[in-house]
Amino acid sequence: MGERTWASSLLSLIVVFACLSHVLGDVHSGEAGAKQHDHQMRKMQAFKASFVRRNLISSPSPSPSPSPSPSSFSPSPTSSSVTVTPSPRLYHVTSYGADPTGKLDSTQAILQAISDALEGPSDGFLMQGISNLGGAQINLEGGNYLISQPLQFPVVGRGNLMIHGGTLKASDNFPTDGYLLDLSTSSSNAPEYLFEFITLRDLLLDSNFRGGGIQVINSLRTSIDNCYITHFTTNGILAKGGHETYIRNSFLGQHITAGGDKGERDFSGTAINLMGNDNSVTDVVIFSAQIGIVVSGQANLLSGVHCYNKATGFGGTGIYLKLPGLTQTRIVDSYMDYTGIVAEDPVQLQISNTFFLGDAFIKLKSINGVVNGVNIVDNMFSGSNKGIDIVQLDQSNGPFKTIDQVVVDRNNVKGMNLKATIGNGVVQGNVTSWTLDLNPILLFPNLIKNVQYTFFHSGNSFVNHALRNVSNNLVLIESDVQVSASVHVVADQGK
Ligand SMILES: *[C@@H]1O[C@H](CO)[C@@H](O)[C@H](O)[C@H]1NC(C)=O
Ligand SMILES: *[C@@H]1O[C@H](CO)[C@@H](O)[C@H](O)[C@H]1NC(C)=O
Repeated sequence: MGERTWASSLLSLIVVFACLSHVLGDVHSGEAGAKQHDHQMRKMQAFKASFVRRNLISSPSPSPSPSPSPSSFSPSPTSSSVTVTPSPRLYHVTSYGADPTGKLDSTQAILQAISDALEGPSDGFLMQGISNLGGAQINLEGGNYLISQPLQFPVVGRGNLMIHGGTLKASDNFPTDGYLLDLSTSSSNAPEYLFEFITLRDLLLDSNFRGGGIQVINSLRTSIDNCYITHFTTNGILAKGGHETYIRNSFLGQHITAGGDKGERDFSGTAINLMGNDNSVTDVVIFSAQIGIVVSGQANLLSGVHCYNKATGFGGTGIYLKLPGLTQTRIVDSYMDYTGIVAEDPVQLQISNTFFLGDAFIKLKSINGVVNGVNIVDNMFSGSNKGIDIVQLDQSNGPFKTIDQVVVDRNNVKGMNLKATIGNGVVQGNVTSWTLDLNPILLFPNLIKNVQYTFFHSGNSFVNHALRNVSNNLVLIESDVQVSASVHVVADQGK
């Protein structure tokens, strides 16, 4: 549809509505009637507004012809008269003078678009103190924008806003402690939650080896979706305080590489830093960073994460759980590719259905010697026959002393050493004592909480036999007479 025909049909539509509301208005009389009339008018305006907006959204995407001036896109809260159409809340950054070729600095232009969106009309409240922007959109229009200062949201207490569809690149003088997109505030009397339901989608963020990509502070229900974040030196994404930052379907790497990079030893930075609770990272690839994900808040879910950020052999870590004493983290359905998981004093930790490739392993690191409620089950491990244990203990700060409800079991291995908290075996002999050494399989030294054994001998006599000792993971069974027997043992460190 051409612009003119579209505009004229819109005009006739408005005329029709104006007439219609006039007719409806005439039906009523008196005070009650007037109230009713006002009500009808409001309903009619709302309906018309929604009709117009639907039309705009379903209309073909704008031609590359010069963009309308910002004012035609900025909402005009005073335009409540029937004949003026409310503007959709779409903020096109080029309308503010942003340069989509990435040559000129677009910081101020984009900040102005963000500012206008945040100061735009709102429809009631989300959480207390957070006004609902109705789904306003800041459209980067597929451009590549040079940014010299963090795009810090100038006001707080706003929600239901999206920034989408383009590239932001830090300039050579971007502050090295800054974030390209910065949902934080420097104000000291900020509300409990700064923002709610902000969506950052379809963005490429290039930190140009100066600082980070996205910072989300004390916010609720933030979506980071289909983003590619690269060249960060601090954090690709930092989520601190607040909760429910959902990072989905995104790609993060300090260096743009597809593995086997010559500079891998020098990779630094953290791709995702979760310093808060109840966040989720799903279907995310981390292709270069010193640490893939650092978690220091509880109840976070990591699922479908593929880490090949920096091999453990080069000093890298896939996922680092830095919540000693109360971990409450789930890592499921993920892919640890030459890089492993470190958990400090894990208490309530689930690692399952995950594939560990290239001698990648899980390390439980003692801080105060506590490990409790840990399930490492149903994973696959593959290595290169270097004798690497699939689960290892780092007791350099002191041994694990409080060990309870730990289940490491039902994992399968290829070219690595199986470790578990449940071990079994059989020992035979024509003797009076049978000793089974379960140290090669059992994870914790000198810990057996429960033993079951079966004493099998084919002679005619009945013999007395008993479990005598389990210390140092050596299971000792003795009989009162010499007899040729095989003893089957199952020993458990978990319960
Ligand atoms: C077990 O050893 C004893 C004494 O050496 C011997 O008499 C007996 O035949 C052995 N039993 C078996 C089944 O080999
Ligand atoms: C169990 O064996 C250890 C040596 O492994 C020994 O020091 C300890 O005294 C034994 N305990 C009993 C009850 O025999």
